[in-house]
Amino acid sequence: MDNERLYIKDVSKLLGISENKIRFYEKKGLIKPERTESDYRIFIKDDIVRLQMIIIYRELGFSIADIEDVLKRGVKENILDHFHNQWRIINREIDRLRVMRKEVENTLDSIYESSDSQVSSIILSKMHYLLEERNIRDGWKDKWNFDESAMDYDNLVKDGEGELGIYKEYKKFLSQTYSLTISECKKDNPRILEIGVGTGNLSEYFLKSNIDIIGIDQSREMIKIAKNKYPHFKIRLGEFLKIPYDNKEFDNIVSTYAFHHLNADEKYQSIMEMKRVLKKDGKIIISDLMFHNNYDKNKFCSKLSEEGKRLLEDEYYTIVEELGSMICALSMSIEYIKFDEIKGTIIISNKI
Ligand SMILES: C[S@@+](CC[C@H](N)C(=O)[O-])C[C@H]1O[C@@H](n2cnc3c(N)ncnc32)[C@H](O)[C@@H]1O
Repeated sequence: MDNERLYIKDVSKLLGISENKIRFYEKKGLIKPERTESDYRIFIKDDIVRLQMIIIYRELGFSIADIEDVLKRGVKENILDHFHNQWRIINREIDRLRVMRKEVENTLDSIYESSDSQVSSIILSKMHYLLEERNIRDGWKDKWNFDESAMDYDNLVKDGEGELGIYKEYKKFLSQTYSLTISECKKDNPRILEIGVGTGNLSEYFLKSNIDIIGIDQSREMIKIAKNKYPHFKIRLGEFLKIPYDNKEFDNIVSTYAFHHLNADEKYQSIMEMKRVLKKDGKIIISDLMFHNNYDKNKFCSKLSEEGKRLLEDEYYTIVEELGSMICALSMSIEYIKFDEIKGTIIISNKI
């Protein structure tokens, strides 16, 4: 093939795509085959390789504009950005379809069980719930801009305790979370999901012990840093509210310093989402900023300056007692372990 020169019909046969498609890619500027004197297209080896790349990218769902950019720039970091973006697009679609399938199935049963006159109101009530859930799942935004703070994060946890002291005994808190996660797991080779990995400081404990861990984070820049530190660590773009994995895939789910970026409704939805990907006897271990109850929160608040109070209210510290009643509604149980006056760990499991 090295020096071969092929006509469009040969290329079509060789690659199993129509001539029209090849003309379309040419029209879009993705390929530029030479022309003979009689204006026939001639394809050389480089054109064929390029077409093969285009076919693969199309199979993966890339848009024409994305393919153009990938082929033009060809830099690894740019290709990675495109793949991460495509991963996000595909998972959003799967998430949307998964919720739709669940609701269509539930509504089907309700319609069977209802009388003719009840059908419309049954559908309306289900759809109302569906839209509410969708708004919460799609509504979460990174208002803290983690992409921007990613570079400084590891310095911040070393000495940036600030008035609230959230990173006081950071390493001890992480190491304790790791030990709890391992001790809560009955299996020899557990599969762990970490949510909100950031720069991978908790992940390091699992990786050093050769534990099968996958991490997700919503920030591309955080992922870049964690990947530089731990090149073999599997980290993907993903959110608490949209976990890019199938049902019942993980033995345990763990998270540190991330859950307080969700408000109460989002926390509830995210626990349903974690429950979905958790095996039946699996556990969720969340170490984060939290108070046992409002009394403890008010006591802590009373010692803060106005700026301290503002910082505290900028995030959604969990009130364990309030979360507990939500978790009961999901047929799950919760255990709380206090770390200090502002931090703690909750262990959530399915009621057996
Ligand atoms: C304060 S950092 C904590 C990083 C690390 N877990 C640690 O303990 O140092 C919070 C991380 O959670 C991620 N995060 C926040 N909200 C998230 C969400 N809804 N879904 C996924 N990741 C989220 C952020 O992007 C950021 O990387």
